[in-house]
Amino acid sequence: MQRVIKARGVTKTFEEGAAAVRALDGVDLDVHRGEMVLLMGPSGSGKTTLLSIMGCILRPTSGSVEIAGREVTRLEERELPRVRLGQIGFVFQGFNLFPTLTAGENVELSLDLKGVRGGEARRRAQALLEQVGLAEKYDAYPANLSGGQKQRVAIARALAGDPEIILADEPTAALDSQSGRAVIALLRELAHARGRAVVLVTHDSRVLEYGDRIVHMEDGKIRPPTDFSRAESSVFSLVQPNLAQDCSMEEQAAWGKGLQS
Ligand SMILES: Nc1ncnc2c1ncn2[C@@H]1O[C@H](COP(=O)(O)OP(=O)(O)OP(=O)(O)O)[C@@H](O)[C@H]1O
Ligand SMILES: [Mg+2]
Repeated sequence: MQRVIKARGVTKTFEEGAAAVRALDGVDLDVHRGEMVLLMGPSGSGKTTLLSIMGCILRPTSGSVEIAGREVTRLEERELPRVRLGQIGFVFQGFNLFPTLTAGENVELSLDLKGVRGGEARRRAQALLEQVGLAEKYDAYPANLSGGQKQRVAIARALAGDPEIILADEPTAALDSQSGRAVIALLRELAHARGRAVVLVTHDSRVLEYGDRIVHMEDGKIRPPTDFSRAESSVFSLVQPNLAQDCSMEEQAAWGKGLQS
């Protein structure tokens, strides 16, 4: 599988007055096309910080991040927006939709940032809403959409630049379980059927079975994979056997191809 994110030795220290907070402490991570990685861990363990650094929103204190083979940590500040716009789609917990714009206009706005305007923007926004199952909601205002629908508009918007990478920070936190599952299934389809790399931060144990891989963070570090030969009562020992059984990489690749054809 083709690697699209390569993070090596990433650290991030926030200066808080006199004190310093080490949010990330030597993180190595690879993410590939066609996979959905779940990033989990306790509050404050560094998940959002890592996501922001992989998304070129935040710079690491040290270490390197390559996006599609290009080391973005070496780029100048002014070059980063182009990487963000062209290669990365963000989905946040709070939807971040503009309340005075319709669903369609919210998506059009992202296209506008990418230089797509007028009738072409309208046509593409419609197609993106269709992709997330909201073809009928182009003219609906966010206030008249359910939480799950709003989150799907946010995903349509993240897809506006046709990004290779989708980074989602707790997109199901505000959703009931059915809408949450629909959103996760959609993200998973984007990975499997459309070859996107998806990194999903979640606390939500209901979505564990949808991931290809779980990366567990603790104190700014990635915790080594659990040794399943020892019967531990962690969530991993409950979930991982299912993952291995239900969704081998090969099976998932085949499943993705099936959807594509
Ligand atoms: N801008 C900032 N300034 C100072 N400290 C920060 C900043 N952002 C994050 N931190 C600190 O860095 C650590 C990691 O924060 P981060 O937001 O990455 O955690 P998280 O795993 O996403 O937590 P949560 O599950 O609560 O969202 C925390 O100790 C946090 O207080
Ligand atoms: Mg967070």
